[in-house]
Amino acid sequence: MTLPEGPSTLAFLQIYQWSTRPANFLDSNKHYGDIFSANFPGGIPNIFISSPEAIEEIFCAPPGTFDSGGHYEILKPLVGENSSMLLDGKPYQRQRKLLMPPFHGERIRVYGNLICQQTEQVMQQWQTGVPFNVTKSVKKITLEMILRAVFGLNEEENLNQVRVKLQGILDFSLSPFFPLYLLVPFFQKDLGAWSVWGRFLRLRNEIDQILFAEIVHRRKEPQSERSDILSLLMAACDEEGNCLSKEELRDEMMTIFMAGQHTVEVAVIWALYWIHKTPRVLKRLQSELSTSIDLTDINTISQLSYLNATCQEVLRFYPPILTAAGRIVKAPFKMMGYEFPVGSFLFPSIYSAHHRSQVYSEPEEFRPERFLERQYSAYEYLPFGGGNRRCIGYAFAQYQMKIVLASILSRYQLELVDNRPVFPVRSGPGLGPSRDIWMKLVDKDTRGKLSTEKINVNV
Ligand code: HEM
Repeated sequence: MTLPEGPSTLAFLQIYQWSTRPANFLDSNKHYGDIFSANFPGGIPNIFISSPEAIEEIFCAPPGTFDSGGHYEILKPLVGENSSMLLDGKPYQRQRKLLMPPFHGERIRVYGNLICQQTEQVMQQWQTGVPFNVTKSVKKITLEMILRAVFGLNEEENLNQVRVKLQGILDFSLSPFFPLYLLVPFFQKDLGAWSVWGRFLRLRNEIDQILFAEIVHRRKEPQSERSDILSLLMAACDEEGNCLSKEELRDEMMTIFMAGQHTVEVAVIWALYWIHKTPRVLKRLQSELSTSIDLTDINTISQLSYLNATCQEVLRFYPPILTAAGRIVKAPFKMMGYEFPVGSFLFPSIYSAHHRSQVYSEPEEFRPERFLERQYSAYEYLPFGGGNRRCIGYAFAQYQMKIVLASILSRYQLELVDNRPVFPVRSGPGLGPSRDIWMKLVDKDTRGKLSTEKINVNV
């Protein structure tokens, strides 16, 4: 059996580079072309693929060709064993079907006001001329969005409790040493409340208790007018009339939180960074946003073509998730002249596909115009993956990005505080900035065109 060529450095070095500077890892293996084998510890073939034709073959393969649950197995302590991410086959299809409806384009429009309100609250804290930490500001907005729109929490006491604990879980998941704990079961020992794993387990347990209590409370006092995702999932049932159990609900909420908070956060941070780093882009966006618009209307927002193009370019340039979930071969699979043995991991490499010079002219340039000049296929441009595993939150994520950016850019004139270099480094499943980004408010309402009444802040 011959696998595609790939780097021959030590497995430990390769996984280290992939875990810390993944963009460098992928760029340094570009010369292998459309496909290469990484040599990670464990001896399983790990194949990275960037050719659109091969990605299409993978995404369109008949059902049952691949599994993907195993790709997410190491996230089990974070998302729980009932998470749809960890499932395959029929159980996966059932759960995914129940999860999808709340994320439909039509449904998510109800969150427009909420996104505006959260952004507005954070913006009001910025003072003219005083540098502020963009990373922290954006985290506040995206975390609050998840707490209110997804978990449906709005009582201050509950909100504060859950906010602190979810923030704690996020900090664990993003700390540089935590992947080691997830990868090596030996480290997963509860050595008391002061040990890393012990603290993690206690935090998870506290979140579980709060979530279970919330679910029980809502079951006792159902409110049909609730539009948060937890309530919608609680009401969803399959064809046989079975609804999601309390444990399934808890695990899906943690899945949505882990998959949906940090991704949107880094996307918005990169967007603010690139827009202000590229004055031409800022100017054109400001011009598009200078007419009075209702930011909470999904149709209006999607007609802002340059804002759309800018968000697309942000997700192309440094995708918040670097590869689609590994497709694990279930029966010998032939592609691109190779036969991949059972158990091989095939990774459609989003980052590499987005930086192909055959598809994107000057791929290392941040240039939203490219998305106005031509359309890219779903296998050339795939920030949300594809096939049966495509991101369920894709519409919600883009909606959040656009409203947050439009709210800020239409009312506030910001600038970067310094020109220190920023590198893309590993941040959760994707690429985040190597340091916090700082900006300052130069002027408010400089163009004064967007009326604040249009931002209806009643949720
Ligand atoms: C800019 C933000 C986001 C990006 C770039 C992104 C990207 C992705 C990608 C690449 C995948 C893997 C798809 C595949 O394997 O083919 C994925 C899966 C997933 N995403 Fe997102 N995502 C984002 C935001 C969100 C949000 C806001 C939510 C929910 C609120 C969400 C929920 C999920 C879930 C549950 C999965 C697993 C799907 C499955 O395996 O069935 N994501 N996402």
